Amino acid sequence: MTTINKISAIEILDSRGKPTIKCYCKLDSGAIGYASVPSGASTGKAEAHELRDHNKSRFNGNGCLKAVSNVNEVINGSISGTSFKDQNDLDQALIELDGTNQKSKLGANAILSVSLAFARALATDRNEPLYRYFSNLMGNELGRLPRPTINLFSGGKHAGGQTPIQDLLVVPGQEDLMSSLDVTYRVYQAAAKISRSKYGMRALTADEGGLAPPFNNLNSIFEDANESIEAAGLEPGKDVFFAMDVASSHFFKDGLYDLGYRKLPSEGMIEEIGKWVGYNPLVSIEDGLAEDDWENWPKLNEAIGGKSLVLGDDFLCTNPDRISRAIEQNAANALLLKVNQIGTVTEAARAYTLAKEAGWKVTISARSGETEDDWLADLAVGWQGDQIKIGSITQSERLAKYNRLLEIEKETGLPMNDWPN
Ligand code: PGA
Ligand code: ZN
Repeated sequence: MTTINKISAIEILDSRGKPTIKCYCKLDSGAIGYASVPSGASTGKAEAHELRDHNKSRFNGNGCLKAVSNVNEVINGSISGTSFKDQNDLDQALIELDGTNQKSKLGANAILSVSLAFARALATDRNEPLYRYFSNLMGNELGRLPRPTINLFSGGKHAGGQTPIQDLLVVPGQEDLMSSLDVTYRVYQAAAKISRSKYGMRALTADEGGLAPPFNNLNSIFEDANESIEAAGLEPGKDVFFAMDVASSHFFKDGLYDLGYRKLPSEGMIEEIGKWVGYNPLVSIEDGLAEDDWENWPKLNEAIGGKSLVLGDDFLCTNPDRISRAIEQNAANALLLKVNQIGTVTEAARAYTLAKEAGWKVTISARSGETEDDWLADLAVGWQGDQIKIGSITQSERLAKYNRLLEIEKETGLPMNDWPN
């Protein structure tokens, strides 16, 4: 049993300058854990509730003082002095204390900050690295490091909307992490140069550090990406692969996918994605269809699932109920896992296990609004995520996670996941 001495939280700012929560958990043993929670911009409708103050005179309504006070008053009042068997026991108490389906009473941001700070406090108490704590929690041995899928170009809600597609990512195929980051750096620099010469602009970046030039059309994203890889002296489909976050819920209106140059029904969209996958070394398609387009996801999976991950982000929202339904309907073959979409470590672990038991791949993902906290890297290694999606290799809130992965790689000597080779 572990007794919690005190839980407290403060407001801090995320990578977009918006308030978020940092929580501290002190155990009776004296061990202290902390955790900061991220925040999305391109959110799914089924996500757990992120509690904001909606007081327009402070951070345009984005303050988190209510969530902070829920931690300091309600949660601390209820659980300090209490003993818990394990993570599951604590998370269950938090879920019951909130009592709503989407954690709208206390806020999923408040709840997750406590769940994660407790995880770190326990790891500290046991004198084990956080990745080891997470692997024990899952009953896993340590296996392989997740392969990073790294943001190169951005559009949609993470940039100026110059293209409806949200992210074009590179998937470096090297044997170790540093070589993968080296290759990515060279491609990124080549892409920045190409953006300057083609579009006459400085390397302006989007929320996750990706480049965001005003592409002429959708094809030019692929053209520019392939060109960047070649300019870096590398070969697309051999040294570097692509992944795409279509994030299509955000341009699905009145039954049609509005790609700017064309508006397509679901069948047309599946055909279009089929062409992208056919002509490019695209190994992962995230949210190719909208979150509520349930009847067409199985058709998308049927069409491209043999070649590419059919990855559900907004579609699944790390929600065990949605994941079970998708498994039953054969509607996807991969889960994008964002812990704050569901709100506790235990529920995220359940989502992960469901996906894995169905033979799916799991991409562990950051959010577009991040902090310098690096727990995501430990979680992705501990749970043996197949991929990790952190954003670009710029900006310290992203680098905190890449650098933590480098540290873990050094410490454990683990090999990288060989997907997609
Ligand atoms: P976010 O989205 O802005 O909600 O974090 C990132 C993503 O769609 O993967
Ligand atoms: Zn997404």
